[in-house]
Formats: sequence, structure tokens, C-alpha cells
Amino acid sequence: MKVRIGFVGCGGIAEAHMKGLVKREDVEITAFCDVNEERARRMAERYGAKGARVFADAKEMFKTVELDAAYFCLPPHAHGSELYAVEAGVPFFVEKPINLYLSQAQEILAAVKERGMITSVGYMNRYRKGVQTVRELLRDDPPILVLGGWIGGTPRAREGIWSWWIVKEKSGGQFHEQVTHTVDLVRFICGEVEEVHAYVAKGLNVGAPEGYSIEDAWVVNMKLKGGGVANLWASCSANAGGGGVTLSIYANRTTALFSGWEHSLRLLRAGEEERRIPGEPNIFEIEDAAFVEAVKKGDPSSIACDYEDGFKTMKVTLAACESAEKGEPVPVG
Ligand SMILES: NC(=O)c1ccc[n+]([C@@H]2O[C@H](COP(=O)([O-])OP(=O)(O)OC[C@H]3O[C@@H](n4cnc5c(N)ncnc54)[C@H](O)[C@@H]3O)[C@@H](O)[C@H]2O)c1
Repeated sequence: MKVRIGFVGCGGIAEAHMKGLVKREDVEITAFCDVNEERARRMAERYGAKGARVFADAKEMFKTVELDAAYFCLPPHAHGSELYAVEAGVPFFVEKPINLYLSQAQEILAAVKERGMITSVGYMNRYRKGVQTVRELLRDDPPILVLGGWIGGTPRAREGIWSWWIVKEKSGGQFHEQVTHTVDLVRFICGEVEEVHAYVAKGLNVGAPEGYSIEDAWVVNMKLKGGGVANLWASCSANAGGGGVTLSIYANRTTALFSGWEHSLRLLRAGEEERRIPGEPNIFEIEDAAFVEAVKKGDPSSIACDYEDGFKTMKVTLAACESAEKGEPVPVG
């Protein structure tokens, strides 16, 4: 019996998952839901199983179609329909960040825990060999200094992700929407974050597109529960280039230097040869395989980040947003 999957949100990242999922013999995509119904129809034509259904309303989809799993690939402000999956008892994958609103995420988390649902959150870098290698090594060599972030230019496109990404009320800003990947790796590799203190630059991004209401840049200091300290940054206004994605972790005997979207690793250990572990190019397929296996077995142990863990990462980025607003340090509850 194939795993019958339904998608809520059929945009850019949804298609990335669909492309990998349809290669598998053991799954079929039988339902497509998007408020932009034409987009859902287009995805159904490309990736849908015979008789796949198209919806504009998630509630209707979960009421009408019997599913074994669901994917939520929605802008941060557009979540909530995960509750229909919980009601229907359908395990779900949700892209990061899990939400923009703490209260709504808390409601979904409570429902997920009450039903003991299998869930997975889109922090795909947790599945990288380099990341897991460093996590193991730092178990007995605690991280002392952590530096990292995302530096890029101003999104100009008016379509898809960029249409909401530049709007603060929809994306939550670059730190919440994008650097959340790095915040999650800090938690996964270096342990919990105790407190954050953020500064932002605003109104300096000359020529920013219409509707642009996010910060131009962020620096966020963090106190780690393990005693280490971190400084993370973000810019979406470096229009001359020279930016990129990095995460550098310095411990006593270990230095881990991750670079690029694929988080390729350069690993230095005292008294050892330098090692390099390239980032996996098919990381979404690896992440999806872990979720599909968990659904088939009814056993979540293959999943690297469940809803509760994704919720903890969201709390750190929302604390950074609050700190930027207040201009003072904010403890991560
Ligand atoms: N893991 C990654 O590397 C990665 C990469 C890109 C995007 N993402 C995340 O995935 C999410 C979606 O991003 P995207 O690039 O696919 O954006 P997108 O704009 O291309 O797609 C979002 C889709 O959701 C639809 N939508 C909006 N509200 C809806 C609702 N209430 N019900 C049903 N459909 C609705 C939109 O019409 C759109 O088609 C974001 O949270 C983003 O951060 C993750």
C-alpha cells in the first residue's frame, strides 16, 4: 500500500519536495491544496497520482481525502491548518519556520502532543553528515564561540517566496525566516540558547522594492546554556555581493567551519589531519526519506526534528525579534 500524501501550499519548496517524493515507489501524491488553486492544479498535473484531487481550502481537503501523511509548505504567517491534520490523525511534515505566532504554534503543539502525532520540521541541515559528525565530537569538547549567518542582496522578484519574504508581517524578517536554519544548528550542535540580544539596521536599503518592510541587517548575541557565546548575523541589503552562508564553531580542541547553503564542512582537530565533508546535494530527499520511513513504521525515531523541537527554535528567533523591538536582552523562555 503506497503512502498517500497531501500538500498544503504548492509553491517553490513544495515542488522541491514533490520532485524527490515522486521518484519513490512507496508514495503517491493524491491531494494538492493552495489558496492559489491554479498553482495547485499545475502541481497536480505534474506530480499527482491518477485521480489526484485539487483544493483551495485545507479543511475541505482533510475532510474529503483519506491521507497517510501531509506536507505544509506555507509562508510563516499562513499556518494553522495543521490542526485539521491533527484532527484527522494524519502525520505531517511542516517547513521551517513552523509559524510566526507563538500562541498558534503552542495550540498546534498541544494538539500534536495530546494525539502523539508523528511530525517532522524542515530543518534539513540536521541530516547532513558533517553536522552530525561535529555534534558527536562536541559532546566532550563543549563549544566556546559560535559565529554565523546569512548575507545576501535585496530580493527583487515579485513572484513566489519574495512576494511575502520582504513583508515583516508575513515573514517575520530575515532572522526569523532564514537565519532560523543557523539558529536551529546552534541548538542541535551546541545546545540550548539561554538569552539573546539583538540589534537591527532599518531604512538604509536604498531602492528596496515596494512593500519592503523588513530589517536591512541583524546582529544577535546569544548566551548558550552550556556556557559558550554566539553571534549570528543577517543582511538582505548587501547588493554588491561578497556575502554567503556560514557557521563557525570554535571549541578547545575542535574548529568546525561550515560554508555555503549546502553547509560543506572543514573540520580541524588538535593533533589530527584536517577533514572535509561536503554538503549533500540531495538533502530534501534525505529529509523526506526519514519522514516517509517514520510514517510507514509508525516510529518517529528516524526524524531529526519534530514539531516540539522546531517550536524551541522558533522561540529563539521570536525572542531575537522581541529584543530588537525592545532594545534589550530577552531570555528564551
Ligand atoms: N528548507 C528550505 O530550505 C526552504 C526553502 C524555501 C522555503 N522554505 C520555507 O517554506 C515555506 C514556503 O516557502 P516557498 O518558497 O514555498 O513560498 P511560496 O510563496 O513559493 O509558496 C507558498 C505557497 O503557499 C500558498 N499559500 C499561502 N497561504 C495559504 C493557505 N492559507 N493555504 C494554502 N496555501 C497557501 C501560496 O499561494 C503559495 O503557493 C516558508 O516557510 C519558507 O521559509 C524552506
